[in-house]
Amino acid sequence: MANTAELTVDGKSYSFPTLEGTEHEKAFDISNLRDQTGYVTLDRGYKNTGATKSAITFLDGEEGILQYRGYAIEDLAAKASFLEVAYLLIYGDLPTKDQFTQFETSVRRHTLVNEDMRKIFDGFPVSAHPMGVLSSLVSAMSAFYPDLESGKEDNTDLHIIRLLAKLPTIATWSYKRSLGHPTNYPKNQLDYIPNFLNMMFSLPVEDYKIDPVVVEALNVLLILHADHEQNCSTSTVRLVGSSQANIYSSISAGISALWGPLHGGANQEVIEMLEAIKADGGDVSKYVDMAKNAKTTGFRLFGFGHRVYKNFDPRAKIIKKAADDVLSKLGVNDPVLEIAKGLEEAALNDEYFIQRKLYPNVDFYSGIIYRALGIPTNMFTVMFAIGRLPGWIAQWKEMREQKEPIGRPRQIYTGATLREFTPLESR
Ligand code: ACO
Repeated sequence: MANTAELTVDGKSYSFPTLEGTEHEKAFDISNLRDQTGYVTLDRGYKNTGATKSAITFLDGEEGILQYRGYAIEDLAAKASFLEVAYLLIYGDLPTKDQFTQFETSVRRHTLVNEDMRKIFDGFPVSAHPMGVLSSLVSAMSAFYPDLESGKEDNTDLHIIRLLAKLPTIATWSYKRSLGHPTNYPKNQLDYIPNFLNMMFSLPVEDYKIDPVVVEALNVLLILHADHEQNCSTSTVRLVGSSQANIYSSISAGISALWGPLHGGANQEVIEMLEAIKADGGDVSKYVDMAKNAKTTGFRLFGFGHRVYKNFDPRAKIIKKAADDVLSKLGVNDPVLEIAKGLEEAALNDEYFIQRKLYPNVDFYSGIIYRALGIPTNMFTVMFAIGRLPGWIAQWKEMREQKEPIGRPRQIYTGATLREFTPLESR
């Protein structure tokens, strides 16, 4: 028999069903709490709230486990391609060879972006942050597909392909323009990651040679970022989509959420922090002390801590090793890598960080790899967005297929009680 949870309030007892997921995480089902008791729950930051049932990604923060559709992240990062992982997340199973060929061919064919989108892009100042531009242009994409009437999603698979295909194209525009270089059109004979690299780095005046080391490193990074269950940006995508907003608007909102420095924007902050430590003489202990006094200094160690991981972040483990490999294969000597390692060691041996279970997260070492690949700092979070796109799509699709109700939290009102209105002349 299923367990129930008993709640006694105001001298009355109520019982609520409990439920258990396939990986044994347990929950109280309080869907009828307010109807039965007149109470709501208060859970700032949703630290204890399961907003949905989902079959996409499993993570165990205590054990440092991350799985997409039941496959270990370590296996996928070592053996799969990013587009295979995208298919897995979105459609639930690894593709057969035929399914993959069809999927990959469709993505290849949709990389070109409507020329009128360029006019919108041209209106942004050269100094615009590429995340703001990306979010705006993804939102603008909805204007180019009139079949997207709200609530009518007949062409969902096509929109999914369009998003996967066009996001890298749009992403490269900001970088090219920041250098005063012409933007590149996609070349559809190239695979997904080489095509992106070619748009980023090739110039009309000379050939760009795509380095397989760079392709492999990006493949791993994109896979590691591809989904992370109900994080801030994914919850945003699901919440916006729950009003039946179209997929472009929902994902554009997710990109905005990702931009924040406490979420995906941390990867840019990490490199800026490491650079500042270097410029300040490289004394990591000074910065560990500042972070310990966050309440007075307002300084946090970016790339450290995670809402869910309280042991280690399995993605950070893979990325740390990849950083060493990639830098040595490319012959890059980045002094910031040593500062990062020193900072990690100092923090991991410090009581403040031990007590609070603060470990390096996915963003701590990723920027060092991006930098070694030639990707500029203000594009780091854009790289995260390209990686996270399949996860957002999968979560948006699942939310729609599960016919989830519109997301609408409650509140505990703490404002003024009813007051009498005084006309302006009498105030
Ligand atoms: N440096 C110093 N202290 C920290 C840090 C940090 N990076 N992170 C958390 N703490 C401290 C807090 O001050 C708090 O201390 P207290 O109990 O004395 O008040 C305690 O650890 C718990 O921190 P919370 O902020 O309550 O934890 P929460 O789960 O809400 O936040 C978060 C998680 C936002 C990731 C936080 O650890 C953080 O700000 N980290 C730095 C930014 C970052 O790297 N973000 C990327 C996360 S991964 C991602 O989104 C892709």
